[in-house]
Amino acid sequence: MIRSTALRSLPSCSAARPVASVAPLAVRSFNASQSRGFAQPAERPAQLKEFKIYRWNPDTPAEKPTLQSYKVDLSQCGPMMLDALIKIKNEVDPTLTFRRSCREGICGSCAMNIDGVNTLACLCRIDKDTSKTSKVYPLPHMYVVKDLVPDLTLFYKQYKSIEPFLKNDNPPAQGEFLQSPEERKKLDGMYECILCACCSTSCPSYWWNQDQYLGPAVLMQAYRWMADSRDSYGADRKEKMQNSMSLYRCHTIFNCARTCPKGLNPAMAIAKMKLEMATESA
Ligand code: SF4
Ligand code: SF4
Ligand code: FES
Repeated sequence: MIRSTALRSLPSCSAARPVASVAPLAVRSFNASQSRGFAQPAERPAQLKEFKIYRWNPDTPAEKPTLQSYKVDLSQCGPMMLDALIKIKNEVDPTLTFRRSCREGICGSCAMNIDGVNTLACLCRIDKDTSKTSKVYPLPHMYVVKDLVPDLTLFYKQYKSIEPFLKNDNPPAQGEFLQSPEERKKLDGMYECILCACCSTSCPSYWWNQDQYLGPAVLMQAYRWMADSRDSYGADRKEKMQNSMSLYRCHTIFNCARTCPKGLNPAMAIAKMKLEMATESA
C-alpha cells in the first residue's frame, strides 16, 4: 500500500488523465410565465466546477498516484462534496473509490481531506465559486487502500486496545447502573464521537508516532470511559497510559479540535486526563 500525504501545502501531481465532463452544458428548468396553462422549459446556464481527485490503484502499484480532473455541473448536483463524488462515480467514472454510508454525518466513513481540511464529505458544502478547483485527497499520513479509501486497521486496533466498553466487577444486583445527571453530563462532548479519524490524521504527533501514540480520537474515547461513573476500572485504564508514548506525545497543538467535523474537542479531553493523572499520582 502507498501512504497518503494529503496536506494543504503539498504540490499537486495534477492532470495525469483527461478531464471528463459530467453534465450537459445547459440544463432545463420550467418557467410557468412563458406559457398560459403549461410550464415551459427554460435554459439555465451550466455551472461547471472542476474537482481534482487523488487516484491510486493497488492493481498497478508501480504507477504513481495522480490527481484526476473531473468537471461537474453544480446546477445538476446536490450541495455537498459527497453529492459531487457520487455523481462522478455514477455518471462518469465507476472506478472512483471512496467510502460512504449514512450521508448525514453519523457513520464517519466519508472522512477525507477536502481543500486542505480533514472533514466529512457529506457535511462539507461544495464551494460554489466555479473559478476555484476543489482538491480531494484521502486522510493524510495513512496507507491508502485505493483512491480516497485509507487503511484504518491500526486506528481500529488502537481503539480496541483501550477496551471501549463498561468494565465493573460489582454490577448492581438488580436493575441498571444508576447515574446522576451531573455524572452523565461528564460524558457530553465525548460520547458523540463517530470515530471518523479526521482528528487523529490531522495530528502531527500521530503522523510521526502512530505506531505508539494513540492519537486524539482514541485518547478521547479512553477518557470517556475513565470519566464514566459506572466504570470501576479508571485506575487501571490510567495506569496503561503511564508511559512516554501512548498519551504524552500530545503537545496540545489543538489541530484535532480545529478539524473535528462534529465540533468535539479531543485536546480538552486529553488535557483533563493528563491533569487527573498528575494530581492523582502526586
Ligand atoms: S473526535 Fe471528531 S474528528 Fe475525532 S474521530 Fe471523533 S468525530 Fe472524528
Ligand atoms: S492537541 Fe494533542 S492530540 Fe490534538 S492535534 Fe495537538 S498533539 Fe495531536
Ligand atoms: S457518509 Fe456517513 S458520515 Fe458521511
